[in-house]
Amino acid sequence: MILFAPDIPMSDDEFVLLKDLVYQYCGLHFTPETKYLLEKRLTKRLQHHKLESFRDYYYMLRYGQDKEKEFAEVVDSLTTNETYFFREDFQLKSFTDEILPEISERKLKTGTKRLRIWSAGCSSGEEPYSIAMLLLDMPQFSDWHIDIIGTDISHRVLRLAREGIYGASSFRSTSPDYQQRYFLPEPGGKSKVADRVRKLVTFSHLNLFDSARIALLGKMDVIFCRNVIIYFDVAAKKRVVENYYERLHPEGFLLLGHSESLIKVTNLFQLRHFKHDMVYQRPKPLQEMVMTR
Ligand SMILES: C[S@@+](CC[C@H](N)C(=O)[O-])C[C@H]1O[C@@H](n2cnc3c(N)ncnc32)[C@H](O)[C@@H]1O
Repeated sequence: MILFAPDIPMSDDEFVLLKDLVYQYCGLHFTPETKYLLEKRLTKRLQHHKLESFRDYYYMLRYGQDKEKEFAEVVDSLTTNETYFFREDFQLKSFTDEILPEISERKLKTGTKRLRIWSAGCSSGEEPYSIAMLLLDMPQFSDWHIDIIGTDISHRVLRLAREGIYGASSFRSTSPDYQQRYFLPEPGGKSKVADRVRKLVTFSHLNLFDSARIALLGKMDVIFCRNVIIYFDVAAKKRVVENYYERLHPEGFLLLGHSESLIKVTNLFQLRHFKHDMVYQRPKPLQEMVMTR
């Protein structure tokens, strides 16, 4: 019997098999220079499954019964789920002070009071819940039908999001006023999101590279995808943001993280300069024709 060795080296062939598989599945890319990272992080999964080689792990990911679940573990071990309430508050200020009023004015002209917002790569839910709290503080939306959809590839963080119980690190940029109004105390110094906030948000498992499932989401007014595409190469970013373009209503907004941009990725969007931030917008149909000519 071969005993399981804790430190199994990844051969160059195994590296090529695994890095291609990971890239096709979720856009994360590894080069020979960053092979050690893939090797180090996946070693934990080999240990977990008591596997004897990376090739065995490749077959598990490719053909295993629980391959979707295992891929979520891979993504978890290769990316960060770091998030907190009211992250990048300057952008949220643009959202409440300029973007939402603009959308509201446009929609009221057509007599629609429906708002659909997608938090793509929502991690443990702080982002979509922050959006919900901001909307609850805007009385002009009190009689609107609001859907906030949080999606992530990781089942683990989605479980936390649905549970809605958070510790101190999630509140590092939350004012005490928000914590008092929208959270209930839980044992151990934690806090639970109030039901009126939870009611506005639904969570779903979704891989941002699964174009067929993304197409089922329907059209959005705003897409938040902050601190997610930072891990992708240009081709993968392009695939993901072109899906966002398809999901947005004309004049809908795409909000990326502060260190992310679409330079060299696509020119499908227009960059709008607001007081507090710059934000991407799907152009009006006529402008689209001019931009793509
Ligand atoms: C750093 S967190 C960002 C959370 C939140 N958007 C924020 O800015 O605070 C990145 C999230 O993207 C998710 N993610 C990474 N690749 C993904 C993919 N291909 N499909 C869906 N989610 C993905 C990760 O699981 C992780 O929870």
